[in-house]
Amino acid sequence: MSEQGEEQGNHYPAPVITIDGPSGTGKGTIAEGLAKLLGWHLLDTGALYRCVGLAAVRRGTPLDQGAALGSLAASLRIEFDAERVLLDGDDVSTDIRTAAAGEHASRVAQWPEVRRALWRLQRDAVRPPGLIADGRDMGTVVYPRAPLKVYLDATPRVRAERRHKQLKEKGMDANFSDLERELAERDRRDRERAVSPLAPAEDAVVIDTSSIGVEAVLARVVDEVRRALPDAPLSTEPAA
Ligand code: DC
Repeated sequence: MSEQGEEQGNHYPAPVITIDGPSGTGKGTIAEGLAKLLGWHLLDTGALYRCVGLAAVRRGTPLDQGAALGSLAASLRIEFDAERVLLDGDDVSTDIRTAAAGEHASRVAQWPEVRRALWRLQRDAVRPPGLIADGRDMGTVVYPRAPLKVYLDATPRVRAERRHKQLKEKGMDANFSDLERELAERDRRDRERAVSPLAPAEDAVVIDTSSIGVEAVLARVVDEVRRALPDAPLSTEPAA
């Protein structure tokens, strides 16, 4: 992916804040909260990989065939419409959130062909007034020159508990020990894959969220935004 990380220009068309980390660290919630505070666009890149995984399963494309998955990924129309995710015009917002969809996403995400197909889409998402991008390789590969990179982490147990609660709240079936095992396996795959593995960028601010709540994490991130982007339009009482 190095040719993709090394772009020609020095600047993005708008500022980017990257939020990376494993599942269940609260990335999505923090990214959403920050996007609201700043009035910036939000890009949930996990949803892109989840859409590719879902399309592959639905169309019978084997999850171990990188070239076929890459062509499939390049052919998909993935759109974000407020809270909804549309895949070729169909609302897949619920279908992509199951534990199985997470597993399929992680498997298709191992393939460079798939990552390449989604890279342009991610880079084109940078537009004024700014972008908050959440994922696994935002700070390392997709937006290496982002002025602020955040990496959220938490213990495996806490992450599994959070994911369990999330799925339950959405009315989805979830057995805790199955989920804990699946999450550990998915994280191992995401960290150990050859291309764009999950890892903090060298210049990332790493925050362990194991024992702090969402409000406190958001407040901490807001402090970092003030430091890195002093002109960003933050309200004065962001985390209240
Ligand atoms: O953040 P999430 O749980 O929705 O992501 C689902 C999977 O997609 C994750 O296990 C790995 C993959 N992914 C990735 O490889 N790179 C990203 N930038 C985002 C997600």
